[in-house]
Amino acid sequence: MKLLRLLANLGYGSRREMAQALRAGRVHDDQGVPLHPDSDIAHSRIRFDGQPLDPPQGMLLMLHKPGGVTCSHAGPGPLVHDLLPPRFARRRPPVASVGRLDRDTSGLLLLTDDGALLHRLTAPRSHVPKLYEAVLAQDLRGDEAALFASGSLTLKSDETPLAPAQLQVLGPRRARLVLHEGRYHQVRRMFAAVGNHVESLHRVAIGGLQLDGLEPGAWRLLDDADRAQLFAEPPAGTTATGRTMRP
Ligand code: URA
Repeated sequence: MKLLRLLANLGYGSRREMAQALRAGRVHDDQGVPLHPDSDIAHSRIRFDGQPLDPPQGMLLMLHKPGGVTCSHAGPGPLVHDLLPPRFARRRPPVASVGRLDRDTSGLLLLTDDGALLHRLTAPRSHVPKLYEAVLAQDLRGDEAALFASGSLTLKSDETPLAPAQLQVLGPRRARLVLHEGRYHQVRRMFAAVGNHVESLHRVAIGGLQLDGLEPGAWRLLDDADRAQLFAEPPAGTTATGRTMRP
């Protein structure tokens, strides 16, 4: 791809701005040699204002979404895109969140410009497990794990029952839940169905991938090892049997 188009697609600026940047000598190779609009050079060797370029198409990143931030490109803020470099919002193809977290939910959110990966992670048949931790307004009754694991619970205004989900009780009002699908407000609606209310909700893991100390509001690019983790099992402690486990 021509350098001008590459830089514009990565969101560094419009083609006109990138033509100016090239004329002004802001784009070099890794040896400091200025590049021109037709330069044919490996992505990894290009420097913009002395910095390596953002990854090419196929970028995947994780964000520790804080509560109170909306998963959307537009609307009343703050938005998850406000936590990322502004050029990411100008990339073509666009960077989209992999599914959504409610405004009040915190935790692991993936964003990518890789349409095939997005589909693989969000398609109804993908079944990549997502692990949530919920703090509840009332004590658990004791029958929730069996009900959630039964595959027979149909939520209000849904037509089909939920896929079996695994509940791990951490305390009287604290639980972890592994879902294999992603319905609207699913965790909150599941606890509402058993007469409870979710006071706070945090996504701990997607597949085997966890935040691992990433601070709220921070993000990092994911590499091939992280991608492999995505398709691994969630962290130990939650069985696939739906049995309630007490620590
Ligand atoms: N379930 C919810 O209720 N909210 C989320 O943000 C994610 C899952």
